[in-house]
Amino acid sequence: MLLMPELDTTPKRLLPFGILSRLREETPVRYDKVRNCWDVFGYDNVHRVLKDYALFSSVRGASAGTSMLYTDPPKHAQLRDLVNKAFTPREIQAFAPRIEAIAGDLLERARGGAMDIVHDFATPLPVIIIAEMLGAPQEDRERFKHWSDVLVESAADDSDEAFRAVLERRQLAIAELTDYFAALLEERAKQPREDLISLLLAAEIDGERLTPRELISFCILLLAAGNETTTNLITNGVRLLTERPELQRELRRQPEAVPDFVEETLRYYPPIVAVGRVAKEDTAIGDAAVKAGDQIIAWVGAANRDPAKFDDPESFVLGRKPNAHMSFGFGIHFCLGAPLARLEAKLALGALLARTGEIRALPDAELTPIPSSFVFGVKSHPVTLEA
Ligand code: HEM
Repeated sequence: MLLMPELDTTPKRLLPFGILSRLREETPVRYDKVRNCWDVFGYDNVHRVLKDYALFSSVRGASAGTSMLYTDPPKHAQLRDLVNKAFTPREIQAFAPRIEAIAGDLLERARGGAMDIVHDFATPLPVIIIAEMLGAPQEDRERFKHWSDVLVESAADDSDEAFRAVLERRQLAIAELTDYFAALLEERAKQPREDLISLLLAAEIDGERLTPRELISFCILLLAAGNETTTNLITNGVRLLTERPELQRELRRQPEAVPDFVEETLRYYPPIVAVGRVAKEDTAIGDAAVKAGDQIIAWVGAANRDPAKFDDPESFVLGRKPNAHMSFGFGIHFCLGAPLARLEAKLALGALLARTGEIRALPDAELTPIPSSFVFGVKSHPVTLEA
């Protein structure tokens, strides 16, 4: 789904922000012949690329035209309006008790004092919530998790073989998901419930219902866009807490600062580091002459640390104000799920801090980065939890 030309941030893939900041200072806009795209690093230019949807199109890749993420106006607003209401902060707030209960449950299971934050906590929480919102039965959770992992997976290395293997797995997952949602949509068409699938089935654009293909790609988008990103936000937050124990102490003293902590985590360790666009006309970005049809990668992870926009950008500042990071994008494609992701992260991290005395990373645990330069997160993060 996220088919974009990757920037090789090896060998320090785990912390690509130093490399991104260096590139931003040296070549704020540059053409990469190998990857065949423009990289845009500075805050103002990234902001402009995301804001000017008429010049920088989102129509690209296999899902072009059917998924709101890969659609331009006017179709984009029509698709987004169908679900916008279900994702407002007010609607989402209704899930708070469920999120708290699930977070509490997951932590209860880790009572032995050790857990893998990714596997035991940050992964199941968003999968369970989005599955419940869509109306998928609880027993399908494991399959949901498998599918959402495969959808955002990148090749492990640069070889054709690795690339082909990922594509094949992704195609299989999409085929399985298509069958899965087709069956669920059929059930709900006969017997609607109070869930997102029933809402989508009843929705109309200009008096017309969505086609089966549109309905299915909507469901797949919600699954693909929301799970790994939220998992990584929670895990990146825990990672900061283990890297800086003083933050744990401060947040335990001042639990009302957890939303500020989530916001600065988003800026500092963004789960999505870059988003893609295609130029519709010849234009200039900074000094660069961009041609119609050129691919553009807007590096929000570099923009978030631009000293022209943020004071002391390389420092993690709890309570930073203003904090106009672009980790949820900007403009018409601003993340639909931002209120949900913020609420889940706030409640998950709040529950973790409230129930533990100290969270420590295992001293010999190696954090393996997720193999994608667009995603910032780790595959596993074992910790010990002191009561
Ligand atoms: C769009 C990040 C969670 C659904 C986006 C975009 C970003 C992003 C950067 C803009 C992409 C672009 O401009 O091309 C994140 C992050 C999350 C998160 C960092 C978690 C921390 C979620 C959740 C959901 C969701 C929980 C839904 C359940 C969407 C959708 C879009 C989107 C549907 C497309 C919106 C549009 O095209 O109008 N997200 N997201 N996201 N996100 Fe999220």
